[in-house]
Amino acid sequence: MKKRLAVFASGTGSNFEAIARACADGALDAEVAVMVCDKPGAAVIGKAERFGVDTFVFSPKSYACKADFEAEIVKVLDGKKVDLVCLAGYMRIVGETLLNAYEGKIINIHPSLLPAFKGAHAVEDAVAYGVKVYGISIHWVNADLDGGKIIAQRAFDYDGDDPAEVHRIGQKIEHQLYVETIAKLIK
Ligand code: GRF
Repeated sequence: MKKRLAVFASGTGSNFEAIARACADGALDAEVAVMVCDKPGAAVIGKAERFGVDTFVFSPKSYACKADFEAEIVKVLDGKKVDLVCLAGYMRIVGETLLNAYEGKIINIHPSLLPAFKGAHAVEDAVAYGVKVYGISIHWVNADLDGGKIIAQRAFDYDGDDPAEVHRIGQKIEHQLYVETIAKLIK
């Protein structure tokens, strides 16, 4: 049976799109069972609709606390019988409610060669540091932000000072690496 993925995103959703396309064209023997988004109005929502993927879109402000909205997310994931949760630009720290239910089944993609440059401004921080070898990491998600065990990495050289260019180069790599890594994990 096809493995069932959940993809979590907060913004553009280019990684969501790469994963959904790979599922649609058979490159991935999986199905995106649900796209979870914490930003009503994010571009990724339209992308999910175009791929016919169900969505759970929520506004964190309308819940009293993280545990409350994560309890809702857990219900959605359980209901969809999700095998693997792929964070793809989900700009929120995963809390203990979701970890208690799904730790060991949650992965994240991060635009640096971890453990260097954790956090939300990895590319900007690396450029400011004068880095010459950049990269992408995919890792298990645990309570330590961007600190779970690394599953896959890919490096590239860049000798310049334009974060937008690093993002552009990095995202092409992300789309391939995420699909390849998911394929290995669900085998
Ligand atoms: C990616 O660059 C990823 O590394 C980071 O967030 C970004 C999401 O981009 N975690 P997109 O929404 O998939 O286009």
